[in-house]
Amino acid sequence: MYVQIETEKNVENESILVDLRSDTLSKPTKAMRMAMLNAELGDDVYGEDPTVIRLEEKAAKLLGKEAALFVTSGTMGNLIAIMNHCDVRGSEAYCGEESHTMLHEQGGAAQIAGVTLCPLANNRDGTFDLKKLELKIKGDRQHEPISKLVIVENTFNGKIVPQTWIQDLAKITRKHSLKLHMDGARLWNASVGSDVPVAEIVSEFDSVTFCLSKGLGSPAGSLLCGSKSFIEKARRGRKVLGGGMRQVGVLAGSGLVSLEEMVPLLKEDHRRAAKLAKAINDLGSKAFSVDLNEVQTNMIFVNISSEKVTSADFVQRLKSVESDDPDDKIIVRGLALTPTSARFVTYYEINDELVDAAIRKFSYVVKQLE
Ligand SMILES: Cc1ncc(COP(=O)(O)O)c(C=O)c1O
Repeated sequence: MYVQIETEKNVENESILVDLRSDTLSKPTKAMRMAMLNAELGDDVYGEDPTVIRLEEKAAKLLGKEAALFVTSGTMGNLIAIMNHCDVRGSEAYCGEESHTMLHEQGGAAQIAGVTLCPLANNRDGTFDLKKLELKIKGDRQHEPISKLVIVENTFNGKIVPQTWIQDLAKITRKHSLKLHMDGARLWNASVGSDVPVAEIVSEFDSVTFCLSKGLGSPAGSLLCGSKSFIEKARRGRKVLGGGMRQVGVLAGSGLVSLEEMVPLLKEDHRRAAKLAKAINDLGSKAFSVDLNEVQTNMIFVNISSEKVTSADFVQRLKSVESDDPDDKIIVRGLALTPTSARFVTYYEINDELVDAAIRKFSYVVKQLE
């Protein structure tokens, strides 16, 4: 089907704008807007919105789970999963110390669910040391919290978590009767990037959240997937968090288009990210480089090893225009994540023309800052 690529907002003050801060910037396509307009609606708190039901059934089927629940966001999906799996006071959940749940969900596990998060040092590929995990799992001592859940993020900073590690992890969680949840905000990138069906990626997991509003282009919404009883309980959790929405088929309609039309396009996002990363390395700079092994989906991290320039300086220079040179006039936006690392993310609106423009600006700035 036809996907409208909208580039009208990419021109700012006669400069070309290439906004690579996040794939969450992607806007709904024409097909999504039409689906919103035409969606069959009902009150979803009564379970009567036919479009939401279609989306939930489709998500569950694709992931090989019994059921799914449409939730407002990835954060809500992860929190409900934590609330569900850690339903005894004094519960503990394990996750990577650099994971979104640990760092960017406001400590909702503690704040709202009353659950302790126990962080484990992340390896670069998103895994953590399974021996260290096992050492952290608590026995039945009254002094300690009750071990309940392990959370895995996939993709992790754009990297696909190795399936063999997931299998080893699952052996441990089974042995200790722990539940497994995947924060699969970008699960579809992991599937397209590894050529492994989503159902296989998540087969060991008791629950999974995935997002429609990142590379899949929808304006909002995530799906929490799991067993029938898990999802029934999740529906109560969603309500208490204020996530019970009414004629929300307007969003679910867009979500269906995301799953049907946007997933195949992720391959192009990955190709373009790889092209951009290679072009940066081809500049031969000592100060600015990308580890190409880590460009597995739609994210690029530029490593900055310079005594003079921080990633904040680099990002600032990329988005500023200081001369009349047509290459300098291109505005590139990215995120300075640490003093030595800047992130750039592709999504469907970042077409080849915009990638080429970004490469021109990177080349201009790298030569200037070196
Ligand atoms: C890995 C990961 N998990 C969860 C989330 C939360 O998603 P939301 O912004 O929909 O709450 C994000 C958001 O960027 C994310 O990157």
